Amino acid sequence: MLANNAVQFHDYEPELAEFGEEVINGLNQIPRTIPPKFFYDQTGSEIFDAICETDEYYVTRTEINILETYQEDIAKHIGPGCLLIEPGSGSSQKVRILLDALKPHTYLPMDISRDYLKLAAQDVANEYPWLDVQAACIDYTVPIDLPANLPGNAPNSRKIAFFPGSSIGNFEPGQARTFLHNIANMVQPGGGLLIGVDLKKNPDLLHAAYNDANGSTAAFNLNLLTRINRELNGNFDVNAFSHHAFYNEKKGRIEMHLVSEQTQNIKIDNQEFQFTAGEHIHTESSYKYHIEEFQQLARQAGFKPVKVWTDKDHLFSVHFLEATDKNLAP
Ligand code: TRP
Repeated sequence: MLANNAVQFHDYEPELAEFGEEVINGLNQIPRTIPPKFFYDQTGSEIFDAICETDEYYVTRTEINILETYQEDIAKHIGPGCLLIEPGSGSSQKVRILLDALKPHTYLPMDISRDYLKLAAQDVANEYPWLDVQAACIDYTVPIDLPANLPGNAPNSRKIAFFPGSSIGNFEPGQARTFLHNIANMVQPGGGLLIGVDLKKNPDLLHAAYNDANGSTAAFNLNLLTRINRELNGNFDVNAFSHHAFYNEKKGRIEMHLVSEQTQNIKIDNQEFQFTAGEHIHTESSYKYHIEEFQQLARQAGFKPVKVWTDKDHLFSVHFLEATDKNLAP
């Protein structure tokens, strides 16, 4: 297809995480951890898409349903002609639900995966010929200075960030506050944030969502070990570890762990790790928030809660927040 709506690309040359270094450091901690950002190699990304389709994982379909149902109301709160910024945009699927109703001036997806971002952004540009699409290769967990030469970055155009998928829940609450604060600074007073946040609910539903019967979530978690074996010269016996996910009610979070089924020694390159039977590696947390609890966090980060949309079963929430001018330090 003729690229008559070309994407302008901004490369911030983000530093790539040192997979080996971070894994070794994490495994030497007590309790042992592996950072969740390493889930998403090619296989991991494919399994993640499968998780989103499972019956038990209500998150994706419920959020999509909320965005579809309330797109007009969402658009009314945001107003036409904004600069729409999506940190961690991936395949830019969910934003498509909003584009026709919202009519932003510019869409700016941001992602750390350069090649994937270029393809995904160009797809959006081809599908929406009226839309100015810019793309920024960036690590969105660090504070972001928007490119000064952005056409949509005129002083009078409203800057709106979009952060779906309850990815905010994968940050520790303190990190979540810092992230929200950085977003508030990026969109500036009067700008906004449309964000998907998973709600606290019956622990049985939460448990099922992270323990799907087909084993997709287990495969996703265990794929970390396969990746370590392949890329870091590890010798994990993937069958000697199991997926363990549960709702920690006191902390209000799902925890995902890999549990060693037996006493075993593991080597990664030439470093050795001794596992006792039953020892855990903590791989991810997914915090769940009551509506008011999340609004409180957002206020502390320099936002004013404006509107929240939920599904009829109160499984999931989509918040619209406005950045205030009292942007206190985190
Ligand atoms: N942020 C979503 C959640 O916490 C999606 C997600 C991230 C996820 N990592 C996951 C879902 C691991 C299942 C398993 O639910």
